[in-house]
Amino acid sequence: MRKNIVAGNWKMNKNLQEGLELATELNEALKGKTVNCDVIIGTPFIHLASVAKAVDLNKIGVAAQNCADKESGAYTGEVSAAMVASTGAQYVILGHSERRAYYGETAETLKEKVKLALANGLTPIFCIGEVLEEREAEKHFDVVKSQVEASLFDLSADDFSKVVLAYEPVWAIGTGKTASPAQAQEMHAFIRATLAEKYGQDIANNTSILYGGSANAGNAKELFSNPDVDGGLIGGASLGVDKFMPIIEAF
Ligand code: PGA
Repeated sequence: MRKNIVAGNWKMNKNLQEGLELATELNEALKGKTVNCDVIIGTPFIHLASVAKAVDLNKIGVAAQNCADKESGAYTGEVSAAMVASTGAQYVILGHSERRAYYGETAETLKEKVKLALANGLTPIFCIGEVLEEREAEKHFDVVKSQVEASLFDLSADDFSKVVLAYEPVWAIGTGKTASPAQAQEMHAFIRATLAEKYGQDIANNTSILYGGSANAGNAKELFSNPDVDGGLIGGASLGVDKFMPIIEAF
């Protein structure tokens, strides 16, 4: 059965020392505690190796926030999936709306990134979600379906079953405007039905679909109580243990 997951996305926050402090603090907070979800932190690239050493990787998974769409070679400034994996990180967030919007990531480049992540043993946390105008025009289901189809539906069933999805309506990210639990459930159920059509009900039922966008300690419980919401991808509220722990404990 699918896992419940609470994943932090630190984005471009915290220098190395601050990041290590936060990771260590979270590690301490989780020590000796049983929680009902997998916990992941998505850190900047340069933090990965140090953070992976500082935490108990059985209790906290470590994620990059991106990886290159090429295997290796003359791509100045890029970081490959193999490099990410070599730090001890086990996950990579791919297709975040900020990367799509500000760094021109396309369905095609994301398809390559997903393949390389999987080939290097990383679990992709693949982000999808509509912008406000698309929701207002009632195109949100079509948009999300085509994002999934365009970057993931080339995968074999075996490969697809290793992917985690994160539905993040762009209008809810960092805005304090969360999707209502009903809006989240409606979209998550739609995504799961889309997966079932392509890969069958078993794989669809086993795929974790996280919600992201202004999720916090106050709304996590209600969001996570929906049958098709399997956890959260948490930005702002993952930057302090005091804010992140209650979200983990919402399960
Ligand atoms: P937020 O970000 O929780 O700050 O809205 C979520 C995300 O972008 O992953």
